[in-house]
Order: sequence, then C-alpha cells, then structure tokens
Amino acid sequence: MPLLQKEDLMLVDLDEMNTVHFEELDIVNNIYDLIEKKESGEDNDEEIIIALDGFVSHTEGHFANEQRLMDKYMFPATHCHQAEHDSALADIKMLVSQYKENRDIVKLKLFFKEELVSWLGNHIATMDMVTASFISQQG
Ligand SMILES: [Fe+2]
Ligand SMILES: [Fe+2]
Repeated sequence: MPLLQKEDLMLVDLDEMNTVHFEELDIVNNIYDLIEKKESGEDNDEEIIIALDGFVSHTEGHFANEQRLMDKYMFPATHCHQAEHDSALADIKMLVSQYKENRDIVKLKLFFKEELVSWLGNHIATMDMVTASFISQQG
C-alpha cells in the first residue's frame, strides 16, 4: 500500500499548489516503494539516491514557488510559512546526505514514515491552507 494517500493531503484554494502537492505525493510514494524493495533484498541504492535527489529538487521548487506567491501577494505571515519550509528543507537535505554516507535504510524509512508524512499533512492543512485562501481572495 502506498505510504501517502490523496486523502492525507488537504486541498487548498489554489490549483497550482494542489498540483505540486500531488506530484510530491507520487515522489514520496515512489521513494517508499524503493525503500521497501531494498528491505526485501533488492540492490537498488543508486535508484534510491537518484529518487532522493529528485525529491530535494522538487521540494526546493515547491517551496520557492510558494514563497514567490507569498511575496507577490504580500501574504502577512510569510515569515512563519517560510520558516517551516527552511526547517523542513534542511532536515530533508541532512537526511539525504546522511543516507549517502551510511546507507541506513531503517533511518531513511523512519523519516518518511514517522516524520515526513505528518509534517506534510500538517503543513498543507495549516500554512499552505491559510496562504492559498489569502491569495485566492486577492483576485
Ligand atoms: Fe505546499
Ligand atoms: Fe508551504
């Protein structure tokens, strides 16, 4: 079963943000699938690393686009939203660089299962929701 279901991610008032969130859902589910394959004995480290690098790039684009929207519409809580992005991106980059060093699949799996899923769901339901709602009312 995929790690993330569409119902886990709340829909916000801007389609372009929802599109990016569902792209992220596919990327995360693909990584989780690769992790489970490795756990069952597959030699797929290179594929995992390519997928993790792709996840970092996608997350950078995801956050940069939301920051561009917040700047464009002068969203009042930009700082709070940006701080959550910065902290999550730093955690993700740290995790990826550690995985490249130690290939610790248990730690990698735990991060996605125990941290990333709840972070993403909460972030979208709070920061992204409020941001999209504000921007969509600016006309
Ligand atoms: Fe987002
Ligand atoms: Fe966000």
